Amino acid sequence: MNDLKTFRKERLARHIATLPKSGIREFFELANNMTDVISLGVGEPDFVTPKLIRQAAIDSLEQGRTSYTSNLGLYSLRKEICKYLEKDYGCYYRPDDECLVTVGVSEAFDLAIRAITNPGDEIIYFEPCFVSYNVEIKMAHGIPVASQTSEENEFSVDIEDVKKKITPKTKAIILNFPCNPTGGTLNLAQMQAIAELAIEHDLIVITDEIYSELTYEGQLPSIASLPGMKERCILLHGFSKAFAMTGFRIGYACGPIDIIGTMMKIHQYAIMSAPTLAQYAAEEALKNGRPEMEKMRETYRQRRDLMVQGMNDAGLHCFMPKGAFYTFPSIKSTGLSSKDFAMKFLEQHKVAVIPGTAFGACGEGYVRCCYATSTENIQEALRRMKIFVKSLK
Ligand SMILES: Cc1ncc(COP(=O)(O)O)c(C=O)c1O
Repeated sequence: MNDLKTFRKERLARHIATLPKSGIREFFELANNMTDVISLGVGEPDFVTPKLIRQAAIDSLEQGRTSYTSNLGLYSLRKEICKYLEKDYGCYYRPDDECLVTVGVSEAFDLAIRAITNPGDEIIYFEPCFVSYNVEIKMAHGIPVASQTSEENEFSVDIEDVKKKITPKTKAIILNFPCNPTGGTLNLAQMQAIAELAIEHDLIVITDEIYSELTYEGQLPSIASLPGMKERCILLHGFSKAFAMTGFRIGYACGPIDIIGTMMKIHQYAIMSAPTLAQYAAEEALKNGRPEMEKMRETYRQRRDLMVQGMNDAGLHCFMPKGAFYTFPSIKSTGLSSKDFAMKFLEQHKVAVIPGTAFGACGEGYVRCCYATSTENIQEALRRMKIFVKSLK
């Protein structure tokens, strides 16, 4: 470390060095250093990837398919993706130049932001939200502008607030419904209202659809399918959540040729191509994985009901999420801050939840509890939650 003292120039990129670390990671590290913790913290399926999908990855290795694919991704996978989006989301994309396979939605999001952001461009997103949005915008020299969602509004968009946030510098709006961390969704009227604003103010819409199969009251079309929206939408999706494939690291972006082409340039230089065997597995997921996905969704739905009931029984008011696999109960009645609640619950009862503030300042007064864990774990965590909340009264 002493060597660093001899370095006289500013070593680090200022706009990155000043970014905070993820508030989720901080909690994982604490929980990981304790034994016998029940984790409602991690936002990933507890299911192992379905057998037929794993087998496709094994087959691809055994058949020696170990080289790079096209930069855009396997053509056969892109064809399946476009078929899937047309059938289930009402969006038509050409596999040749309107679809790019990425390393998870994480990479797709990074590429989308970098491809459209000029310094000083304002990008509107909804808070509480996935931890990456705010920092990714800053990393691309854009200006994040948060529109807050609230429990009173079922954690959906407040169109009047969005209108107030739009300025001549606004470049894009990011949507993620069903939402991580709240489970809030959009109805068709709200989706149409966002589309109208986007058209009126000439905005791009980035729609992160990663939880869109995991909706419990019927699936809506994508905003990209609404009239006039295809040319201004970047649709991001992937396999991590609905197909329980987080470790495969496959996602995709579909959109207009100029934007996908620009995203492709970054991807080509930074990544080359997504992992080959994982692309074969993803193709199998789309071809034959639906029954497994539907089974998992039904299990999540049952766990959601159990979790919401249990939280309310414990004395925490809990909104009934319509999608994804998170509950976002209010802990305001306990008088504790989100961080203190999460810390004390972990220390005293060995259950990990994430403070709502990890997802934006307006998450204060809430914690995120992921129900992608076994029913036994949920029941035990709820039992401990009841004791904990009672002890605070
Ligand atoms: C809203 C949202 N978008 C994107 C991601 C990243 O997913 P992937 O595993 O596809 O990179 C996550 C992961 O938790 C997420 O919650």
